[in-house]
Amino acid sequence: MKQLAVYILLVFFCLTSCANKENTSVSSPDGSIRVQAGIENGKVYYTVDKKDKAILNKSFLGFVLKDGELGKDVTITDVKHSSFSEKWDQPWGEEITVDNTYNEMTVDVQENGGLKRKFSVVFRIFNDGIGFRYVFPEQENLKDFVIMDELTEFALAGDHKAWSIPTSTLYFENLYKPSPVSSLDTVCTPLTMETKDGLYLSIHEANLTDYAGLNLTPENGTTTLKAYLTPWSTGEKVFAKAPSVTPWRTMIIADKAADLLLSRLMLNLNEPSKIKDTSWIRPGRYIGIWWGMHMEDYSWAQGPKHGATTENTMRYIDFAAKHNFSGVLVEGWNFGWDGDWTKEGDKFSFTKAYPDFDLKKITEYAASKNVKLIGHHETGGATQNYENQLDSAFALYQKYGVSAVKTGYVSPLLDHKERHSSQYGVRHFRKVIEAAAKYHIMIDNHEPAMPTGLQRTWPNLMTQEGFRGQEYDAWSRDGGNPPEHTTILPFTRGLAGPMDFTPGTFNFTNKVFPATHVQTTLAKQLALFVVLFSPLQMASDMIENYENNSAFDFVTSCPTSWSKTIVPEAKIGEYLTIVRKDRDSENWFVGGITNANSRDLSLPLNFLDKGAKYKATIFKDGEGADYKSNPYPVEIQEMEVTAETVLNAKLATSGGVAIRLIKL
Ligand code: NOJ
Ligand code: CA
Repeated sequence: MKQLAVYILLVFFCLTSCANKENTSVSSPDGSIRVQAGIENGKVYYTVDKKDKAILNKSFLGFVLKDGELGKDVTITDVKHSSFSEKWDQPWGEEITVDNTYNEMTVDVQENGGLKRKFSVVFRIFNDGIGFRYVFPEQENLKDFVIMDELTEFALAGDHKAWSIPTSTLYFENLYKPSPVSSLDTVCTPLTMETKDGLYLSIHEANLTDYAGLNLTPENGTTTLKAYLTPWSTGEKVFAKAPSVTPWRTMIIADKAADLLLSRLMLNLNEPSKIKDTSWIRPGRYIGIWWGMHMEDYSWAQGPKHGATTENTMRYIDFAAKHNFSGVLVEGWNFGWDGDWTKEGDKFSFTKAYPDFDLKKITEYAASKNVKLIGHHETGGATQNYENQLDSAFALYQKYGVSAVKTGYVSPLLDHKERHSSQYGVRHFRKVIEAAAKYHIMIDNHEPAMPTGLQRTWPNLMTQEGFRGQEYDAWSRDGGNPPEHTTILPFTRGLAGPMDFTPGTFNFTNKVFPATHVQTTLAKQLALFVVLFSPLQMASDMIENYENNSAFDFVTSCPTSWSKTIVPEAKIGEYLTIVRKDRDSENWFVGGITNANSRDLSLPLNFLDKGAKYKATIFKDGEGADYKSNPYPVEIQEMEVTAETVLNAKLATSGGVAIRLIKL
């Protein structure tokens, strides 16, 4: 009798697990997206479709390890299904509450012969796309291992139009160019694509913490993209240990370009915050002793043109206090800038100020005016030198009440050896974020590894560079960022997280490189404060250029953290309008921008509370505005509006409109 019971139990177990093994497909909660996994010729593959249209054909998975391929001759041993749904709140962001709802499928595989090593692929399917990652469980024959290549494929079902920058780009500072997938170079992610059917796809990764950055390369001119991980200088890609997981490989699948900007899939695939009390993490607006260096009015190094003097900093603090800025960034305050710092970053001291910069006096003065000094750590890429000083540097800043630090890594290689997006770089950047958190310091990271949503886990990681920012309008020999640049950036690098673009040019003359200049109108500069999300947002021009300009009123009132974001219209490379609601009030802000073509914007204000009245202040391109010859005219118009109102504005060539809506 007992034996029979055991037998029945065994049969039952076998039936359920066999049935499980056959059910290798999983759909999004709304049923529109489906992922199917399987084995062909001994290798695991997956496919993706949306509403029965193929997005990815059979795309194979696996690795080349130092001692041979992993995933070459495997069997599916189990398939598990589950569902999950939660809502979580962001301490700052483009909205407060994020919905994290998905169906999950875990496919366990094992090698048929040899070492019988095991790994799993976990798929999470959201309504707005997919994520999957490899899991290496603890096992006898896979302990420490070296990944020489990740064989992950994305076999795209069409030769889509893709906006990309090549992987060879230093610090991702390049212009995204459209081309068919099949003719791509090896490119960085996020890789955003438009299909002939009008779908929008963006491939990227999430939760990159101890692995190499992902790049993609088309296989022999086809539309199958293969992973290419940024290597160590010695050629290996990743030094790993089981048990462990890889970062998530992600793809947003959107019906409209606008919806790409509303996907929170990358954040959902990161770990919840490790910082319990986030009250010290404060978004804000800042100015800085900065553009003056790029315009060569000031120098970083000490000398007659030194920008970071006590006196000049106090002048900036006065200006910040008067105009409602929370921070003043000061670059060039510390020893190390004399000589060629881009080659010898290890000369930087992060605790020794130049003699004409009195840190104590400055920070006391700032505190008396309710302004904070924003610290600066340019490392020149010398990560070892920086890591050696990390604790003392952050402790010094904490002692003086400095709660945000801009870091920088200007050097083609870290420590003359390793790429920024290599596992080495990724480890370093995470170490800095975690150390900063210990000292209650927020980070604005320039020349980073490509962001992957770590700010969910470490919300002191506020904003980053890793794209071509406004500084290129100071000294780039190609004339500066072209008009379409900011109509592409939100859909490409912008999908990886907040961008410290540093908008806010009010003076368009460049006396150093007269042929290079900001290629927008002034109204478009205002609109960028809404369009380009950054919880620390810089108004980058020299303060003299803001005095007595009534358009500055928009900058000094524009929030940097939001409770809601809406994207009424978007066409990549052409135009973009974003509407955001302030975190701390009932007020709304709108930014609309266009490329080199002028356009008429017609914006229904149907997002406003029904029945309520708002005072609208509209900052738009004035008569004769044109980015090439006359960027300055801004017409400021005030009117009372309701949810029924439709606002119209003419945007000049590379023009814009910025609107403030105050609830009455
Ligand atoms: C490059 C950064 O992007 C820029 O903002 C900074 O001024 C320089 N490095 C110097 O640190
Ligand atoms: Ca830079």
